[in-house]
Amino acid sequence: MIDFSFTDEQLAVKEAAREFAQSVLKPTVIDRDREMRWSTDEIRQMGELGFLGMMVDPKYSGGGMDSLSYVMALEEISKIDNSCSVLMSVNNSLVCTGIEKYGSDEQKDRYLSKLSTGEWIGCFCLSEPEAGSDATSQRTTAIDMGDHYLLNGTKNWITNGGSANLHIVMAQSDADAGHRGINALLVEADWDGVSIGAKEDKLGIRASDTHTIMYSDVKVPKANRIGDDGFGFKFAMKVLSGGRIGIAAQALGIAAGAYELALDYSKERTAFGKPISQHQAIAFKLADMETDIEAARLLVYKAAWLKDQGLDYTKTGSQAKLFASAQAMKHSVEAIQVLGGYGYVKEYHVERLMRDAKITQIYEGTSEIQHLVISREILRGNLY
Ligand code: CAA
Repeated sequence: MIDFSFTDEQLAVKEAAREFAQSVLKPTVIDRDREMRWSTDEIRQMGELGFLGMMVDPKYSGGGMDSLSYVMALEEISKIDNSCSVLMSVNNSLVCTGIEKYGSDEQKDRYLSKLSTGEWIGCFCLSEPEAGSDATSQRTTAIDMGDHYLLNGTKNWITNGGSANLHIVMAQSDADAGHRGINALLVEADWDGVSIGAKEDKLGIRASDTHTIMYSDVKVPKANRIGDDGFGFKFAMKVLSGGRIGIAAQALGIAAGAYELALDYSKERTAFGKPISQHQAIAFKLADMETDIEAARLLVYKAAWLKDQGLDYTKTGSQAKLFASAQAMKHSVEAIQVLGGYGYVKEYHVERLMRDAKITQIYEGTSEIQHLVISREILRGNLY
């Protein structure tokens, strides 16, 4: 039975994230978004407060927390700043968890403490110009040279790509083996042959650092391969199943943040002699928003809870991402409608949340891919 009686620690983490988002992120978020500015100082503080390696074992300088605490914190940060929250999600769910769960002791000793404190940032390099949803079609190659791989290829849409110190790169080592010939390699950004393309000028999450990355004859020691030869595609899929819970929490935060702004505004703004919240046209919108957001929250919490119990979370994680991202899109638009003209200008924060919402239906698997994953899981009899 699912138990959502939160511990004092979980509630304290949520409150700390809310306080950090309101007091540190909110004052500069509009300017950083407008200027597409990498949030150096804010990210450093996130590292110091433990938001970048929340679930990592304390022996690697992590917070040793559960997934429920993590999604509660992500929701609060995503109510304000989704350039910072996507960094948090990628660094925690894909990079730190990927290395902690599937990496060698040597890899953990070398990289995990740096990543969980924010001294280093990581990125996850799966997408390519011709391999987005169809992720098995990797063109990047990692040729086995005995003691190392020779890595060549191009990755794009890489979150944190311009600033990451460590890249997890999926590459094809044996084309005849298809997805079973793909390896996941840990590549340090300052190695010879790694070059970074221009920063993407995006609709939303504009302060997030999205780049194309080129690898040209990069020598990657065999010791930097994650898992056995050919494990790279399974590694990417397993890690992404957890990553989708993080993006679902981000989408939940966008929807909930927009709702909170609409609710506050509707209680203050008067029209026809009373607060607009007292008009049924607005009150019913608020009722719909709160209902959908609570349903999304339950799915996100269920996915995190399944993960914490060691149960299969693939289907529920995809359901949470599919549903929460739809609510983020729908209710950020509705929140603008509640604020009217004020909602359409940057100063009121809601238009940014609407622009940020769209990417949650695209990255870490589009909504179409989530439908595919969910339907396959149903048909194979996944009980959760
Ligand atoms: N866990 C473990 N293994 C899995 C898995 C999972 N969740 N999903 C698939 N696999 C395994 C399968 O068992 C299969 O292995 P075997 O053949 O050895 O049994 C192998 O992976 C291939 O799976 P499929 O046959 O299902 O492959 P497919 O091509 O039909 O479908 C897909 C795969 C689910 C569509 C996959 O390509 C996919 O998830 N695509 C979306 C990619 C994606 O999410 N990209 C996000 C980029 S990262 C990002 O966005 C981060 C960021 O910056 C914010």
